[in-house]
Amino acid sequence: SNKIKNAKLVLLGDAGTGKSSLVLRYVKGQFVEFQESTIGAAFFSQAVAVNDETVKFEIWDTAGQERYHSLAPMYYRGAAAAVIVYDITNLATFARAKKWVQELQAQGSPNTIMALAGNKADLLEARQVSAQEAETYANENGLFFMETSAKTAINVTDIFYETAKRLIQA
Ligand code: GTP
Ligand code: MG
Repeated sequence: SNKIKNAKLVLLGDAGTGKSSLVLRYVKGQFVEFQESTIGAAFFSQAVAVNDETVKFEIWDTAGQERYHSLAPMYYRGAAAAVIVYDITNLATFARAKKWVQELQAQGSPNTIMALAGNKADLLEARQVSAQEAETYANENGLFFMETSAKTAINVTDIFYETAKRLIQA
């Protein structure tokens, strides 16, 4: 049928969890060790084919620093999908991810597809959040969960592809 669906996707999560790095890996296939902290937000677009349909993601990579928190609703309002990112080596970022989920559940669109990304999965020896704990949390709150690494590219294409699949099924 070759249907094309435009979908606004927002990345949310604490500063330094790797939101920009995930997008850069996904859209450009690149990774940099010294990625600069985002100011305000950055925009990217990426098309993904799922069977005979195409999802055109309009990706808003938000700034995680607390001073930008008040801007977030502009980006998650009307979003078809949200990817909430924490860093598996930093327990506080997992707590912050849960706060984002609560905020989206309270203020976001009810049908937003939500994905939970446990990023920096390459840093296993520094892990502070178990995959089991995150998986359980995700299941109980209507998100799907993957551990990702923008550095090694593990699960990066996959989490966006799975989001696109769910958008088409929705
Ligand atoms: P803000 O823009 O401040 O909200 O941060 P962010 O979430 O966009 O994080 P960013 O992508 O800037 O990454 C922060 C730091 O973590 C950078 O130094 C990245 O190189 C590093 N980083 C990001 N993803 C990974 C990863 O998967 N593995 C490792 N080892 N480092 C990563
Ligand atoms: Mg950033």
